[in-house]
Amino acid sequence: MRASLTTSNPSREPVKRRSFPVVPVVAAALPTLGDWLFGTRTEGDRDLIEELFFTDNKLRPHPVAPGLVATRLSSGRVDPGELAFARQGFPVAVLLRADGDALGRAIGNEISKGGKPQPWAFDLWVSDSDEGNRLSQTATTLEKRARFVVEHLAKPWAAQQLASAREAFAKEGIYVQACLFSPDRIALGLLPAHRAPSLAPGGRLRVHIDDDAPSRAAAKLAEAFLWLGRAPEPQDVCVDLGAAPGGWSYVLLQHRAKVYAVDRGKLAPNLRNQKNLEHIPADAFHFNPGDPVDWLCCDMAWRPLEVAGLLARWARRGWARHLIVNFKLPMKKKAEHLFRIRDILSDGGWSSLRARQLYHDRDEVTIAGVRI
Ligand SMILES: C[S@@+](CC[C@H](N)C(=O)[O-])C[C@H]1O[C@@H](n2cnc3c(N)ncnc32)[C@H](O)[C@@H]1O
Repeated sequence: MRASLTTSNPSREPVKRRSFPVVPVVAAALPTLGDWLFGTRTEGDRDLIEELFFTDNKLRPHPVAPGLVATRLSSGRVDPGELAFARQGFPVAVLLRADGDALGRAIGNEISKGGKPQPWAFDLWVSDSDEGNRLSQTATTLEKRARFVVEHLAKPWAAQQLASAREAFAKEGIYVQACLFSPDRIALGLLPAHRAPSLAPGGRLRVHIDDDAPSRAAAKLAEAFLWLGRAPEPQDVCVDLGAAPGGWSYVLLQHRAKVYAVDRGKLAPNLRNQKNLEHIPADAFHFNPGDPVDWLCCDMAWRPLEVAGLLARWARRGWARHLIVNFKLPMKKKAEHLFRIRDILSDGGWSSLRARQLYHDRDEVTIAGVRI
């Protein structure tokens, strides 16, 4: 790579094009049959409600409990599997009391409506909030009992049950989900596994990172690659903007990529002298890769709209094929920022954009895209 540095600051102030109406505050209410029920990050309900409303202002999403949002999706303008602030979700087909036997029977009824037995997996989850987490033990007991009942009630379907949604996805099967949304109420629904927002119960995809990883941030990139279902191939050239202390670079090296780690900060000692890693102690806004690279990775702690402007410039100049970026969104108006960021990235030429507040993200959103 013939990297070089420039002296001017190339970040562009983004053009404001959309308007963001005030989103009505709606009181918490129970989900009803036919609603979609979504799980969000702790305190992420408001961000999801705003995202839904900005996508389709005819929707009336409402909180159900902390970390849970319900809405009717009638217009087809929202793809429920691709909402950034929804970690998990399903269309509610049954509402029932919190009873393992009743849940098992309801699962049996719902799956057998699909005609011929096909592969399926089941998870029961609670919201990621103090209230939800207090229900975890109850949920485990209910889930165990429901699995036992299903095995005895629906024999042809029981034989098709798989251990995880990921397996159901691989076999083009069904993902049955239930959410214990209050101490005594459960919502149940199912959908093709490939349409589920996540394949982890409640969208809580815990990624194990080994102890040598220089930072916790490594888990965010590892989770992002699982969410995307793609990652750098061996020998792919990756630029890691905002790389220090090196968690992302560490993950990229595990994929046997060649990494250019751009950051004025120091890398962890165990990353120095790595064969496939070069540290470029520079400001990302003045860095030019010289030759195009395969992956542009970015975890810079900087103003999100300016970072988006920088990444858009990479697309305009054809400097990278794949994009994976973690945007820091400490502000209240996360959804509004997300829409502006997406506009800037797509104006630049990034396409097939996907955004998600992943399990390991905090006040952050991960965005992926490609340049065709
Ligand atoms: C959250 S940390 C990155 C963590 C890293 N991805 C990891 O996995 O260990 C944010 C980094 O962005 C870097 N940063 C902020 N502004 C930058 C800029 N203009 N150019 C390069 N790096 C920048 C900071 O120095 C900091 O190391």
